[in-house]
Amino acid sequence: MTGLLGDTPQRDYTEKLRLFNAFARPELREAIDALSMPAGSCVLDAGCGTGESVRWFHESMHGHGMVVGMDLATAHVRAARGTAPARASTVQGDMLRPPFVDGAFDLVWAVNALNHLRDPAAGVRVLSNLLRPGGRIVVGQSSLVPDMYFAWDARLEKCVNDAVRVYYRERYGGSEHEFTAVRSLAGWLHRTGLHDVRVRTQMIERTQPLAEADERYLLECIFRGTWGERLRKYMAAEDFEELTRLCSPDDERYALRRGDFHFLQSLTVSVGTK
Ligand SMILES: C[S@@+](CC[C@H](N)C(=O)[O-])C[C@H]1O[C@@H](n2cnc3c(N)ncnc32)[C@H](O)[C@@H]1O
Repeated sequence: MTGLLGDTPQRDYTEKLRLFNAFARPELREAIDALSMPAGSCVLDAGCGTGESVRWFHESMHGHGMVVGMDLATAHVRAARGTAPARASTVQGDMLRPPFVDGAFDLVWAVNALNHLRDPAAGVRVLSNLLRPGGRIVVGQSSLVPDMYFAWDARLEKCVNDAVRVYYRERYGGSEHEFTAVRSLAGWLHRTGLHDVRVRTQMIERTQPLAEADERYLLECIFRGTWGERLRKYMAAEDFEELTRLCSPDDERYALRRGDFHFLQSLTVSVGTK
């Protein structure tokens, strides 16, 4: 069955995942290092995408540990096999039916992955079963707080966010309630009977000068991939025209060249212990 956001084994958004991980690398690495995984630990990255976090966990344990990536999509698994170190393993599988025995892992990490499930709370339950007693599950989710793109124009930014929401609802047919279910991630950990549930939100924050990875992610994934022509029919003509100019590198109003460009994206990490 297709996931809430259209995921299937055939789906491929490898390039988008690579750009996101290059962009959010400092914050993701910090979150991974903060877990202080002891050498020799067994870690599962559920919904590992292109495998960057698999590599970062491996580095965080100085190469002394077992890191396994699991993803539904054939193309993502192939990409992850190229990214992850040779000692890590990457398997293709559905996180709701993982091909592992219960209690096999010291830590399960799932970032921006459970929100792709129609029943994310079931995902937490299934993944928690893979933990040994005392093991931890870490569920990460970006953008629980709306992103800030246009610091100088909150009205236009709201129009864009509203248009994106309507586009996604039309494209995937989910309800607003389903798309926002992930806001309850801390509650799922509690309800699953996990202990010592902690949550921390950090901001991914970028101002000028932007690094190349920041500009590529914002331009290619957001301005062109998430927005672009597809939003035209959901916005007033003059707003869409202004958006198009802000998103065009050849235009004098290009947002990513403005001195007052200031981007904010939240990254929430919730940790529970079995
Ligand atoms: C937004 S991406 C996040 C990838 C990665 N965690 C990251 O932070 O870059 C979501 C990933 O979850 C995978 N996925 C979606 N549904 C899945 C499922 N039921 N089982 C395993 N992986 C799934 C997708 O193929 C995709 O690679």
